[in-house]
Parts: sequence; C-alpha cells; structure tokens
Amino acid sequence: MPQFTKTLVTTALPYANGPVHLGHLAGVYLPADLYVRYKRLKGEDVIHIGGSDEHGVPITITAEKEGIAPRDVVDRYHRMNHEAFLKCGISFDYYGRTTSGVHHKTAQEFFTEIEQKGIFVKKTEKLFFDRKAERFLSDRYVTGTCPICNNTEANGDQCEQCGTHLSPLELINPKSKLSDATPELRETMHWYFPLGRFQEELERYVHRHDLQTMPREDIENDPYSIWRPNVVNYTRTWLKQGLKDRAITRDLAWGIKVPLENEEAAGKVLYVWFDAVLGYISFTREWAEQQGDPEAWKRYWQDGKSRIVQFIGKDNVVFHTLMLPAILMAWNEASQSGCYNLADNVPASEFMTFEGRKFSKSRNYAVYLGEFLETFPADTLRYSIAMNYPENKDTDFSWQDFQNRTNGELADTLGNFIKRSVDFTNSRFDGQVPHACTPEEWNALGIDWQESLEQLDLAYEGFHFREAASLGMDIARAANRFLTVSEPWKVIKIERDAAARTMALSLNLCHALSIALFPVIPETCNRIHAMLGFGERIEELVTPGKSLLAELLSPGLKRGHKISGKSEILFTKIEESDIAPELAKIEGLVAEAEKREAGAEQQKMEFKPLISFDDFLKVDLRVGRVIAAEKVQKAAKLLKLQLQVGSVTKQVLAGIAKYYSPEEMVGKNVVIVANLAERTIRDDVSEGMILAVEGADGKLFVVEPEGNEINGRQIQ
Ligand code: 2FM
Ligand code: ZN
Repeated sequence: MPQFTKTLVTTALPYANGPVHLGHLAGVYLPADLYVRYKRLKGEDVIHIGGSDEHGVPITITAEKEGIAPRDVVDRYHRMNHEAFLKCGISFDYYGRTTSGVHHKTAQEFFTEIEQKGIFVKKTEKLFFDRKAERFLSDRYVTGTCPICNNTEANGDQCEQCGTHLSPLELINPKSKLSDATPELRETMHWYFPLGRFQEELERYVHRHDLQTMPREDIENDPYSIWRPNVVNYTRTWLKQGLKDRAITRDLAWGIKVPLENEEAAGKVLYVWFDAVLGYISFTREWAEQQGDPEAWKRYWQDGKSRIVQFIGKDNVVFHTLMLPAILMAWNEASQSGCYNLADNVPASEFMTFEGRKFSKSRNYAVYLGEFLETFPADTLRYSIAMNYPENKDTDFSWQDFQNRTNGELADTLGNFIKRSVDFTNSRFDGQVPHACTPEEWNALGIDWQESLEQLDLAYEGFHFREAASLGMDIARAANRFLTVSEPWKVIKIERDAAARTMALSLNLCHALSIALFPVIPETCNRIHAMLGFGERIEELVTPGKSLLAELLSPGLKRGHKISGKSEILFTKIEESDIAPELAKIEGLVAEAEKREAGAEQQKMEFKPLISFDDFLKVDLRVGRVIAAEKVQKAAKLLKLQLQVGSVTKQVLAGIAKYYSPEEMVGKNVVIVANLAERTIRDDVSEGMILAVEGADGKLFVVEPEGNEINGRQIQ
C-alpha cells in the first residue's frame, strides 16, 4: 500500500453542448472543489484537472438542431461553462478541451500503442447508412417507432417514453434524423477494445477497493481507498456479466481521426468515450506545459505515490472503473514509456433532484448554474448544495431549503456573529484585539479543537461533504452562542476586561471560522479575513507541507492586532419576493412537464370499458389473404378488398385508400373480423373489417400476420 504524497483530482468532462446545471454542480464539481480546497489548506500537493468533452454525437446533434457548426457549439458552451464554474469558485488548476492539439495527439498515441500491440479486434458489422446524407448513422441519428410502446419518436439507442434500451435495428420504420430518409444497412469495419482480455486484472483492481474483499490492513492503513457501495455494485454487475468487446471507433466526421493512413481508417474517428477518458491525461500535460515544466504531469500519472481521485456522477461509473483502467492496462503492458496509475477512488455521486424532479436537459427542466449566479451569490449556493450533497442517496434542492439555510444558518448564525464581533471591537476597542487569549481560555470555549479537526479531516478525506460543511457550521453556532451568552455589550459597563476577553476570543473564533469554512464558502471567508485586517487572501497563505488548519488549535490573533475597522454584511437575506419568481418559473416548467407526461400516459392508458372473456370469444378473428383490390368510385377513402379466408371469400370495404394502393394490398395477409354483421356502405356490402393501427399523423398500417399456411386460421 503506497504512502501517497500528492493527489490528482479529476472531474467528469461535461459535454460542451449545453450549460451545466445545479445537478452537475452538486454531484461532481462542488464536492471535488471542497476536497481540493481542503487539501490545499492542509498544505498538500494537489491539482484539480477538468475540462469540456467536445466530441461525440451529443455535440453534432446540437449543432444540427441549431443549424451551426460543431465547432461553434463547443466554443460557445466551453466558454459558458468554464465561466460559470469560475464564478462559482470551482478552483480548477486546469480546464481543458478535448478539441485541443495535445489531446488529439494523446488519444491518437493511445490508439496507436494499443493497435501496435495487436490488442484491438477488428469487426465488420451492418449499420444504417443514409444515402442522401452519405453517412453512417450512429444510434442517436436513427429514429423510429418503439417496438415496445409504439412511441413514434424513439431514438436508436433508447425510447424516452418507456425507457427501453434499443438498438437501431429494432426500430419499426427507422428514419434518418439527418434527412428523414429510410436508411439502408451497409457493412462497415470498426476497431473494438476487448475488455474481456482484462477481466481478471480488472477484477483484481476492484477487489483491492471493495470493502468486502480488500486486505484488512489496507482498510486500516488507508480507508480512503474504499469505494462507495454504488461504485462497487455497478462495476461488479458488469464484471459478473462478463466483459465484452466494445467498439471504439465510429463513422463520423466530428472527432479525433483514427491515426492510420489506410483505406480502412478513412472517415473514422475515435469513439467519444475512448477519447474523453484520456482527456484527464491530456489536460494534465497541458497544465504541466503551462507551469513551464512539461514533464510535471508524470508526477501525478506515473509516480506510484500519487493518489488519483475521479469525481463523477453515477451514470459514468463503468467508464471510469473499467474502461479507462483497461485502456491504461493495455498501455502499461510491456510499456517502454512509463506506466500509468489507476484511480485510487472514484467517488460517484447519486443524483440531486430539483423541487422533487429529476433535472433533464432534454426536457428543459433545470436551473443552470450561470443563470443562478446572476441572482444569488456563489457561496449561498455552495453552502446549500454541500449540505445536500447526494453522497449515497438522491437528494433534493428546493428554493425553500435554500432560503432557510441562507437566512437561518449563513446570515443569522455565521454572518451575524462575525458582524457583531467586528462592529463591537471597532466601536468599543478601537478596532484592536483587546486581550491576549490564553490556550486555556481557547480550550474552555466548549469546542474540542483537536477533536473537531480530526472529524473535519475524516469528513473531507472520506468524501462526506455534508458532514464537513455541518462541522464548520457547528463551530459557527458555538461561536454565536458564546457571544450571545457573554453579553459583552452589558458586561463592558461593569467589567471592561471581561468584555475585552470575550471580544478577543470572538475575533479569534472569526479567524478560526474563516479557515474552517474556507473550502465551502471561500469568498465569504476571504471577506472575513479582510475584515480581520489581513491583506492577503487565504489561498495565498498556504505553504507546502504546513497545514493552515493547525491554526485552529490555538488563538492566533495577538493582543493589539489591528482589524480593518470596517464591517460588511456577509449575507443578504433571501425574501419571499426573491424566490417567488423562481417558484413561478418552476411551476411553469412542472406544468409543462406534467402536460407532456399526462399526454403520454393517456396515449398508453385510455382503455375501453372492460369486457368479459366470453364477450371476447365472440369475436372471430381470422387470417385472410387479399386476392383482389380496387378503388371505390366517389369514396376516396375506401378500398374494396376480396379476401380469401380459408375456403370462403369475403368482401370488405376498408378505409385505407389514402395509405395503400390496390396493387400494394394484393397478396397481403391481413386479419379480418370474420363474424361481423354485414353492412352496406355506399351501396356496396362489407362482410367484415380488417385490423389496422393508427401511427403518427393518423396514418393507418394494416396488421399483417406472419406464419406458414395460416390462411383462414383463427387468431388467438
Ligand atoms: O456524461 C457526460 O457528460 C460525459 N461527457 C462525461 C465524460 S467524463 C470523462 F470521460 F471525460
Ligand atoms: Zn418505448
């Protein structure tokens, strides 16, 4: 078990095809930032690497929808998301993009290395091809009718209505999203990564991080290497099923070219997930270059003393616990140029819902980070989200909770304490720390500092960010109580020294809070720090190898220390009138979503009244064959069909003339209600009905049974 001396933190690369929302922040970016800021406070060597995922079908689909080039899509959203993260205080050391030259080179290097080792498998398969657009269609580019629920707008990979995972070949009436044409099947060759080849090595890897199977001494020596149960479960489920070959190339124009100069590679790019997971490496390289030390990335990726921690959402687990590790294992096999470390932990979050509903980009049910920060300060959001971190179950963000926490905890408890301490010192003690606090006085405050620091450490290092934020707020509560109970504003009239002691302790508590809460509300803590008379920002005080948190163990502000002489209101309370428009917006979104869902529900659920089994048996459904068909004069909708039903011929008038020509109908097997009473329509007799189903736009499809020698048979 290595003794780690540095940490590389990565955060999932959001697709640059839309703005990031609060769900992304809660699951991935805020927790990573809390972790990184905490480690920096401890004086540890840590870097945070993130960036945009700029390839793949999600990008090209957005580009086509908006009628712009993929390049414009990624430029726009990369900038927008990076800005929103910065505004929220997410302190990346580097925020890259997968369209960069370094990344293209890195991903191609990996492909080439694995190709040259003969690890990839090449396979030819049949894929839909759009002849009009002259392109192969990846799953998302095919739409059609879901074979399960008849949703006419199912995607080639999944039906949004019933949730079934599909392959494009399963769709009824497949259509190309590019041209609306019916696509044809064509053969194409692709490179596959044989995940199965690494099955055992991957099992050993998971084994070392699964609490149930890892060596006892590892649990004791380094409990932070233990993976969350959800991460182990998702990964083990895949391992149990046996790992399969995964295609890692695609026929697409947008992406990283397959780095081979031959016919086979023409028009092919790397599959976006193959390239994206390598982005973490490319961006660390770019960071190193920016530092003026191009080899520095190796200290984090190739030195066994580096702990890699990858923050992701639960939907990305296996890409990080199986796919990326297997790619790195393939590289590491007999490597001539350094071996890569595998992630030590992958703290995947559950999801955060918003006012009780799942965030959904496609349904436009979301609050976007950038927009949120136009109205409310970052620290209020950071605090609320940290207190609701979806660590092991889904949690909810609600405006009410946001308002309560901001007003009750941040403003009334923390903000009020700081302001009272600073104002009273300014007005009554000339803006100076009026007393030299002793360690005894510090320890008599009712806060066990040693214990608090240990708890804080366990919380941050163990990725328990709700606890971490609460522990900080607990200190604020204790401080606020201390000041209220000590009543220096009364005591000063009788015993100035006692009031001076109270104020010196309070100011020291302000200082302690500015450090303890720094990872959660960094901007506020810097403002507190400034109010206490310090010129530099807290992050500038960090010295490698020295923990700023240790300052909490003793009262750090000396007697006579001059505070700034000014005070500010740290948090403005959120009024009902501030959240009313937000609630109205949500109501609007929910109403829209409900309308859509109700529509879908109705389509599925509105049945006719129940009938008995006997009633059902009365209906005689038979297979008939159309032996002749003709149009009916002056009845544009009707076709007159002659059906052979076993030994009997029946004439049926069917309202399908708009959708089928007489020639098309002849030879078809259809289902006829054979015992329906005769009806006369337009002076002609109809001796039954044939079954048809209404598709999109009211178009009718005749039901065509299949089978051998079924003519005349009863449908059962
Ligand atoms: O799910 C997503 O948004 C992906 N773009 C995440 C990629 S994470 C990593 F592989 F880059
Ligand atoms: Zn469906």
